[in-house]
Amino acid sequence: MCPPDFYGIEYEINPWMSRSKQSDPALARQQWESLHQLLQKQNAKIELMTPVKGLPDLVFTANAGLIWKDLVFLSLFRHEARQGETPLDRSWFENAGFETIEMPEDFFFEGAGDALFCGDTLFAGYLIRSDVRALQWVAEKMHCRVIPLQLVDDFYYHLDTCFCPLSETEAIYYPPAFDEYGQQALKEYIPHLIPVVKAEAQRFACNAVVLGETVVMNTGCPQLEADLQQRGYQTLSTPLDEFIKAGGSAKCLTLRLDGERAAVWP
Ligand code: ARG
Repeated sequence: MCPPDFYGIEYEINPWMSRSKQSDPALARQQWESLHQLLQKQNAKIELMTPVKGLPDLVFTANAGLIWKDLVFLSLFRHEARQGETPLDRSWFENAGFETIEMPEDFFFEGAGDALFCGDTLFAGYLIRSDVRALQWVAEKMHCRVIPLQLVDDFYYHLDTCFCPLSETEAIYYPPAFDEYGQQALKEYIPHLIPVVKAEAQRFACNAVVLGETVVMNTGCPQLEADLQQRGYQTLSTPLDEFIKAGGSAKCLTLRLDGERAAVWP
């Protein structure tokens, strides 16, 4: 995670962001701290990145890259406003002992925001941020099957805003964020799909952190919490409204450095 010292809405690169709807720095700090504490209480060991002035979205560490074993595929951000993050991400990963791989020129790729394992299959969101050829390139390097999913709603511009693997066979999703083919593909490969309703998708219900059988999310998603509890999950929620102003929530504020329960790396 990366503390929100320099977080704010300084540019507009997704429809949630509006410079006229600034976040409150003190409240953002408090919400970030509560999430951090909540994850620690679940026994997550959290490593921190040093925040940097002028890079307000560095808090969204999910976009630093895609981790695979001790290797990281570094992001190549579509928007210049975020491109300054990558050198910092690279040195953080290298200091932590990861090997880093850069994307080929012009292959836009936004890391764990758009590439999520469910079982041994990589589900990959493309068009709005990541390029389909970038996702295919990454999957080829990992020798894994990739299911490209076109994202069709600008409000759900990263895959992790509308899809969240829970285990090898279960995932949360918001159907209208995908086209007909994408919805079919998800149904074909994932036996148990839990749809979220629009009002909860807008609360970033799909942007949850999964720690074993515990799912951590923004407040205001009662229906999803009930559905997850029925499937045997424990749910925890904490307010993250200040980060929704930038188009992010719990999951975006974190990057798993080890494997997720849902992922079986090839
Ligand atoms: N403002 C950031 C952007 O538009 C938010 C990123 C949220 N991250 C995510 N993994 N969905 O890039």
